Amino acid sequence: MNQSEAWLLGSYRRLDVLQVPAFRSARAIAGVHAPRHSESVRLLPLSTDLPQELQPLADFVAGRAAPALPPLTALSLLLRYLASPQRYEPQNTYGVHRVVPSARCLYPCRLMLLARQHGTVQLYHYHGEHHALQACGERSDLAALLGEHDLALIGIAQFWAMADKYGEFAPFASALEAGMAQAQLNHLCAALNWSADSLEASETSMRQAATLCQGDHEAVLYGLRCKVDELSKALSALQPAPGPTLLAASHSSDTLDQRFAKLKPLCQLLSTPPSSEPAVPQQDNAADHDDSPLPPPEIGLLQTMRRRNSGNDATGMAPRLNSLPGDSLGRMLSLWRALQRRRLALPGEASLRVAVAWLDARSAPIGLYDGEAMPLRHCDDPHRFVEQLQDSLPYEGMRYNMAGLKLNFMLCADLVDAAEQHGEAALRRLYLAAGAQAQDFSLAAAAHGLFARPVRMLREQALETGYALPGQLVYQVLCGLNRSTNTSWELM
Ligand SMILES: Cc1cc2nc3c(=O)[nH]c(=O)nc-3n(C[C@H](O)[C@H](O)[C@H](O)COP(=O)(O)O)c2cc1C
Repeated sequence: MNQSEAWLLGSYRRLDVLQVPAFRSARAIAGVHAPRHSESVRLLPLSTDLPQELQPLADFVAGRAAPALPPLTALSLLLRYLASPQRYEPQNTYGVHRVVPSARCLYPCRLMLLARQHGTVQLYHYHGEHHALQACGERSDLAALLGEHDLALIGIAQFWAMADKYGEFAPFASALEAGMAQAQLNHLCAALNWSADSLEASETSMRQAATLCQGDHEAVLYGLRCKVDELSKALSALQPAPGPTLLAASHSSDTLDQRFAKLKPLCQLLSTPPSSEPAVPQQDNAADHDDSPLPPPEIGLLQTMRRRNSGNDATGMAPRLNSLPGDSLGRMLSLWRALQRRRLALPGEASLRVAVAWLDARSAPIGLYDGEAMPLRHCDDPHRFVEQLQDSLPYEGMRYNMAGLKLNFMLCADLVDAAEQHGEAALRRLYLAAGAQAQDFSLAAAAHGLFARPVRMLREQALETGYALPGQLVYQVLCGLNRSTNTSWELM
């Protein structure tokens, strides 16, 4: 399989040509998971006594420094806002939610930490459910991965963890999620004033990190290397839990390749690119832009991250139908661009094209807008425009509560154009970049009080042709207003 074929398989054609149990019957496969087992391990719990806020969002996007935290508090906060359970939503099918979303809350990425500690290099596995580290021993053989840095955070996509449910589509969904995690990780490092380098910018780091993957159904999809003062002392101060902890773990089904013939080649195409691919120099997004952002809403950075949710609402009753203020789209997109400027650019970002379907007629005319909130084309039939979105829902007869929906943020690309710059790494880079931009937009929407539901299971063809989009759809974020009584409890 080559990446053009994989690109096609990731398009709406997947509904006909990929083996995906979840596309057959959402209900029948609800309980299908990778096999589970338990493991008894000794954990190093991290503190949950964390500041509720670091700084106003406005200060963050303006590049102002937040007050410094002790290194262990900073590490604990970063991990908590990257990968630990954050909210309990008892009325929803998938009850526990984290700050970075995952398709049907499967969370296929494993997070590993490599730290320089008193002249040695130590490996840790972060367990989000327990907000604790598991020491995995000395790995001085991986010193080159760190380079001059003190800490590397390595996100390993366990494609197998989604494969029982998502079959051959698992690598695509995992890559989008990893891209979202990469953006979140960048923002957290920026807020903590940790100077960070992308893992992908160093071929040695990627090669060494890949040795942490187990089997053909895993790949390093995101990560950063950071400079953190006094980290070594702080990690040594961690006290082990008084006794062993029983962990609920999963492992790969051994029949995956028999059931899903295209899974392994797709995993390979989305894995670490061969070193022959054109390298993209690490780039600060800030360098590329000169627009001055509109003032963001008065909300804190961490509060924004905690507020992000996908509008999971099992009953969907009584959504709030209020209209948004007239300048909302411009302000959300301005904040989205400002958030991008606070992080390192991902190589595929320049190849993405944005189109926003705006649906809130009382706020701004219904129609298609670009990433700067400028109309892309005139819409003379708003009713049909909204219907076209309804037509893209995965099953005939499925209803989405369109009344509460305000916009659809769409990321499109053309593989042939992207391959000119990125060669065989284009597919991987486009998916990771789309994830990162979707996470930034989700935060911008959350700051404005909207839910942000990333989606990749719709019939995109209806939108690509109906809206004449500027490329094939890679990812979308549906945004709207939750009903006011959608119960949830923060776990943080
Ligand atoms: C890659 C990806 C694809 C997704 N695709 C869909 C989808 O097609 N339809 C849908 O309703 N939700 C989709 N979701 C949304 C998740 O189901 C939702 O984020 C998850 O339930 C977690 O909820 P939370 O984001 O509120 O924490 C997707 C999420 C991700 C990360």
